[in-house]
Amino acid sequence: MSSARTLPIWTLDRISDGFRPGLPPSADVVVVGAGVAGLTTACRLAQDGRDVCVVDREGIGQGESSRTTAHLASALDDRFYHLAHWHGAEGARRAAESHAAAIDWIERLAMSADDDCGFRRVPGYLFSYDGKTDRLEKELGAARDAGLEVSFEAGIPQLPNLGPALRFENQARIDMGRYLRILAETCRASGVKFCLDEIAEATGGDSPTVVSAAGTRLPAAAVVIATDVPFHERFAVHTKQAAYRTYVVAGPVDEGALPDALIWDDGDPYHYIRLLDTADGKWVIVGGEDHKTGQDHDPKAFVRLQEWAREKLPGVHSFTHAWSGQIIEPADGLAFIGADAGGEENLYVITGDSGNGITHGTLGGLLIADLIAGRDNAWATLYDPKRKLLRASGDWIRENTNVALQYRDWVESGDIARPEELAPGEGAVVRHGMHRIAVYRKGDGDFAAFSAQCPHLGCAVRWSPQEKSWDCPCHGSRFDAQTGAVLNGPANAPLQPSAWPLEDRGPD
Ligand SMILES: Cc1cc2nc3c(=O)[nH]c(=O)nc-3n(C[C@H](O)[C@H](O)[C@H](O)COP(=O)(O)OP(=O)(O)OC[C@H]3O[C@@H](n4cnc5c(N)ncnc54)[C@H](O)[C@@H]3O)c2cc1C
Ligand code: FES
Repeated sequence: MSSARTLPIWTLDRISDGFRPGLPPSADVVVVGAGVAGLTTACRLAQDGRDVCVVDREGIGQGESSRTTAHLASALDDRFYHLAHWHGAEGARRAAESHAAAIDWIERLAMSADDDCGFRRVPGYLFSYDGKTDRLEKELGAARDAGLEVSFEAGIPQLPNLGPALRFENQARIDMGRYLRILAETCRASGVKFCLDEIAEATGGDSPTVVSAAGTRLPAAAVVIATDVPFHERFAVHTKQAAYRTYVVAGPVDEGALPDALIWDDGDPYHYIRLLDTADGKWVIVGGEDHKTGQDHDPKAFVRLQEWAREKLPGVHSFTHAWSGQIIEPADGLAFIGADAGGEENLYVITGDSGNGITHGTLGGLLIADLIAGRDNAWATLYDPKRKLLRASGDWIRENTNVALQYRDWVESGDIARPEELAPGEGAVVRHGMHRIAVYRKGDGDFAAFSAQCPHLGCAVRWSPQEKSWDCPCHGSRFDAQTGAVLNGPANAPLQPSAWPLEDRGPD
């Protein structure tokens, strides 16, 4: 069971072969999560000679790392004029430098393998969604100040219709399925063990320990939570970031029809474009249309993306893939990487990926390995999960006000009056007395029903028609429609089953 029902383009066949079921009796360092962040951390720790156990409830790359579009960018998507305001000029420079170092690290690993994972250095182009150039000019100065090699261009080659753009040198693209495989093989070759289990608790201090959902304990010298969203604490980091749902379509395109570049606009929500080499020729990947998880579900998101792509990109007609995934937006644009925000020692976290999670996850692995080894790292303060969001307080207040407003669902009526109104394969929240029940109608007409109360902090979940999941509008936890199992944290327990409407429903 991956984190969503739609299928991304990357191939992960048999990548998780060799996982050991359950937890071993002991490990030096436990890394929870086998996405790009967890695997990079494990690789670096193993290179330092540590005995590392990676635990994942699904296997390798079953979270957002296989739903990504894998733009490898030091030209970060939150604008350098914002980053300089939030983190100061030096912070913006360190941010650019750390993402460039992550791309270099990925390149070295890909080039040292038999398979180069389709790694290609390409330019990046940022264009204005409404044709106005003032924001581009502002970003040009801020990006230069941050140390990026960037220029103002009258247009993007082959795409003059997109208008003027900033051109960033030394960005890159990669085939994420092949890269995850190389990362996993490198970990295995360095002695990393892989275990299949769900972790329900993690603590630090003098005796760091993880506890599986079945109650098995695994003590270690250090624990790293690399689960995209941490599940082990309720507040410390979750009030500083917000979950967004984002959409992607992909399909074949004639060789040479589009420039080989990363291209994105500055709209809100924004759109982006990149190419991919496949055995069947060139493909184009187009993404965007983000909205807050559990809010504003729009069944037309994929259609709108396709229309946008056909309007903007000559030679792009048909799409064969469509999928969605989860982005975690930190209020001040940079990930939270380092010692746990709750202050526990020997407990580390990587979260807040933003749209730059492949490079955030990679630099996160390098940074955490340094912290565990006691080495100085110039990026540690910038990414510290305990940092205050003083200069980003406007965004922080806006996101938390939005969360508070979601609790009003508890006093509102249900989406439908009676479960029988549901077609097979659909779900809705139904009010039953004082309770809100999340009801899904299965293919055979039976119901799967759960309390709509999110186990994290009690918001009411909502139905996602695209992914056929229950999504929490507060901090982005998601749950399987049929079983109530967690698909995305921060919830660390499933939805509670409800006897109604299976029992005591009265006559139809
Ligand atoms: C559509 C889309 C496009 C994107 N495009 C880009 C892009 O172009 N460039 C870029 O840099 N980033 C991009 N991102 C972001 C990037 O893909 C993610 O930030 C990154 O993959 C997150 O990696 P991760 O290792 O932190 O988490 P994940 O890959 O989600 O891995 C977390 C793992 O933890 C496991 N897990 C969770 N909870 C538990 C538990 N309790 N017990 C055991 N295991 C658990 C999960 O099974 C999962 O395997 C995109 C994301 C999406 C969704
Ligand atoms: S994810 Fe926090 S209340 Fe649901």
